[in-house]
Parts: sequence; structure tokens; C-alpha cells
Amino acid sequence: MSFPTHRPRRLRTSPAVRRLVRETHLAPSQLVLPAFVREGITEPVDIGSMPGVRQHTLDSLRRAAVEAAEAGVGGIMLFGIPEVRDAIGSGADDPEGILNVAAAALAAEVGDALVVQTDLCLDEFTDHGHCGVLRADGGVDNDATLERYAAMGVAQARAGATLLGLSGMMDGQVAAVREALDTEGFIDTIIMAYSAKYAGAFYGPFREAVDSQLKGDRRTYQLDPGNAREGVREAIADVEEGADIVMVKPAMPYLDVLADVRATVDVPVWAYQVSGEYAMIEAAAGNGWIDRRGAIQESLLGIRRAGADAILTYWAVEAAGWLREAH
Ligand code: PBG
Repeated sequence: MSFPTHRPRRLRTSPAVRRLVRETHLAPSQLVLPAFVREGITEPVDIGSMPGVRQHTLDSLRRAAVEAAEAGVGGIMLFGIPEVRDAIGSGADDPEGILNVAAAALAAEVGDALVVQTDLCLDEFTDHGHCGVLRADGGVDNDATLERYAAMGVAQARAGATLLGLSGMMDGQVAAVREALDTEGFIDTIIMAYSAKYAGAFYGPFREAVDSQLKGDRRTYQLDPGNAREGVREAIADVEEGADIVMVKPAMPYLDVLADVRATVDVPVWAYQVSGEYAMIEAAAGNGWIDRRGAIQESLLGIRRAGADAILTYWAVEAAGWLREAH
């Protein structure tokens, strides 16, 4: 009888040994909480397809941000839901617009403890739900949209956002916003580019969360799910345009792209565990088909293992609590 020369099980014999040889670690500071704030409501509104996630009032948002800061979470990414929408998304660069007002409130309240971040995209603010302004033929006008993004970026920086999340997938958006910020003196405002953002089914619950007006899809600007090399190319282009951080989104179906981008660029790489990923695990757990905490922790660890330096996740506060418990 011959015996194995290599016994990998040796390093799995006890929790203490396993902890010592664990390759990948997550920390609360690597988690970012996406949060929705809605204009004109007096009580938070539950989002049916995202159990546990709500559209906040300004007040409940403030409380959620304080809770996130206390949990040690790294940042909060704000999405605004305006009362009134129009063709060009006027609420986006209005200093009184809900997203800018919320950013200002949080910058004052928790700005020292949390990195206050704003979504820089027009889709919540347009009455047609597209991420940009439209041409006469109904297509999204790339270069006219860049002017709107530049104005939106300056308004967000002026409101007090530390980091702008450019999620619109227009060509040249990083350069356009960087130039506008620098011209206005906001040289330290950080640009995080959603470089590889894929068009697909996993944003479904988010559309409910922001009361999306979109008919049709975003396939003329978001990436085709079959394309990994193109995602890497987008990330390289964004770094060249001045992105401080790049992101891959969604996370779990695109871990290969995440690993490729991580291997290619040397700026921080983030991943967005999106609404559909959240809803899947919550639904399975709610039915008793999967261990909720185990699945959430494993999903976050997997995203980190694939190369994410930080993760946007709706479980940020809860997961941060578990991480602190484990130490
Ligand atoms: C666009 C934007 C979307 C998400 C974040 N930013 C929606 C979309 O592209 O349709 C989706 C996030 C999620 O699903 O959790 N502003």
C-alpha cells in the first residue's frame, strides 16, 4: 500500500489552522452600502423585491448612514429618486435636487467617518429612464450626455460628495467629468468609474427601487454579457482618462472579468453585488433553501477573492457586523 506524499488536509485540521492559512480576508472598511433616498416622502418605503432595503427619507437616510459608520463600513453610495422627472434630467445638477441635498446632509453628518459617494447617471432623473439625453431618433446622444454629466459632477462635488460613481457608460465620461471638476477647483474629488458594466437581467429589483421609467433596454451603452476582453479594454480606457478607481458590475456572474481587470490595471478595482444578486440569495434563504448568512459571506468572499478591493453590497452593514463578531 502506498501513502500520499502530499496531505493538503493537514492545513484543514482545526479552525485555528484554517484561520492561519486563509488567503482571503474581508474587512468592514472594504464594504460600501448603496442607499436610496426619495424626495417627497415622510416615511421610508419598503422595496418588495429587495426585502430589508428601503427608499429612505432624508431623516432615515441620515440614521442609516450613522449606523453604517458605527459598523465600520467604508462608504455609502447614494441614489436619488426625484419627485419630478424631465427629458434632460434637470434634477441631477440642481443644488436643491434630492441627490445633492442628501449628499450635503451626509457630508455634514458622517463625512469624517464614511466616504460619501453619489451615483453620477441621469437615469433616475429622466422621464424616459435612459442614462443620457436622447436624440430626435430616440437613441442616446453620447456627447450631449457628457455635458450633462459634467454639470452633474460639479453639482455633486459642490454638495460635498467625496467620490463620484460614474455609472452611465457613455464614451469619454471620465475625461469629461474630470475636466469639469478640475476647472471648478474640485481637484480632490475622486472618480470611480463603472468601467465594465454589463447589460442584463440582474438590475431588475433596482429598477423597482428607483421607480425606473425605462422601456426597452440599455444595450447600446452597457456591455454585452459575452464580452470579457471588452470589459478590460473599458477599464484601461477609464484609467487613461483619469479614473481613480474602476468597477466591474454585476459581481458574481462576472468574476472572470473582475480577475482580468485586477490583473491589468493598478488602481483599486471594485465590484458591485447588484440588486438581482441580493434578491436571489434573499429569496432562496426566505424559502429555507439556502443558509442565508453562509451564502452572503461566501458570496462576498468570492468577489473579494476574484480581485475586488472593495464591494458595493446591500448587506454592507449586516456583513460588517458579522466580520466584527468573528474577530
Ligand atoms: C444606473 C445604475 C443602475 C444600477 C446602479 N446604477 C441601473 C441600471 O444600469 O439599469 C443597478 C444597481 C443594482 O442593480 O443594484 N444609474
